[in-house]
Amino acid sequence: MKQAILVTRATFPEVLEKLRGAFEVTDNQRDVLWTQAELIARLQGKTGAVTHGSDKIDAALLDACPELRAVCNVGVGYNNIDVAACTARGVLVTNTPDVLTETTADFGFALLMATARRIAESDRYVRARQWDKTGVYDMLLGADIHGSTLGIFGMGRIGQAIARRGAHGFNMRVIYHNRSRLSADIERECKAGYVDKESLFRQADHLIVVVPYSPSSHHAIGGAELRLMKNSATLINIARGGVIDDGALAQALLDGTIAAAGLDVFEGEPNVRPDLLDIPNVVLTPHIGSASIRTRQAMALLAADNLAAICNSTGKPAPLTAVN
Ligand code: DGY
Repeated sequence: MKQAILVTRATFPEVLEKLRGAFEVTDNQRDVLWTQAELIARLQGKTGAVTHGSDKIDAALLDACPELRAVCNVGVGYNNIDVAACTARGVLVTNTPDVLTETTADFGFALLMATARRIAESDRYVRARQWDKTGVYDMLLGADIHGSTLGIFGMGRIGQAIARRGAHGFNMRVIYHNRSRLSADIERECKAGYVDKESLFRQADHLIVVVPYSPSSHHAIGGAELRLMKNSATLINIARGGVIDDGALAQALLDGTIAAAGLDVFEGEPNVRPDLLDIPNVVLTPHIGSASIRTRQAMALLAADNLAAICNSTGKPAPLTAVN
């Protein structure tokens, strides 16, 4: 008899088909956002789950679902999962690193360029039929990317991929801060130099945040850090909401402490602070860093393969690896 598993959110038909070949699958193709009680109810009797960032897998859920053996998260981040509680109960957890590195780095760069060169504002300007004279010397002036200093906060795989784009593609000076310094070989390959956190904030013309969320990175960027930054600086968050104090950031954008921000992730998403929605010099996107067709398919397939490897012992699941 096939083992029963749950896929918590809508996914690609080919991924479901693959899972159905190996498991008795309960899916959520209508993509209903379940309450915690509904999630627990649907997990009853399931040995595995393909989960997503919106699912909270905590000790209470695990205790209510004693048959669960595997939680395979679609995403490199897994701050939605209490890994210690899973480990204590013998539940294996996997994520989907590597397959999204380059796509997410592309997006970080796209958001940086859209923010620094005011592309979203320009689009609104044209659509509002405000463009009535061409060649105005100071219309929608932005900040240069090439030749500027790119700061990277969190230098895992995605941070390194962003560094390569900046250094090799845009002739940027790249500096980074990370919990631990990278090897000299990787620094050379990325053309990136290690600096302390304060120097990173002080020196960057553009700062991209790529650190994983954990209690220790909660509000790692608040009013004090923003005040260290240049008034002309751009701040980009493609990591997780909660790493930046969004309230302090809104204030910094309003009072000119920094020039602009690009945010793909938010505290309490999908809810976004109403004051951010009214600020023109912030570009807002709905957590789409890894959202290319090929990459999202690869992430879903990897999670499905991980689940099959754990539940059917068909091979080795990719081990849980660092978030970025
Ligand atoms: C990730 O992979 O962690 C992305 O943020 C999607 O959740």
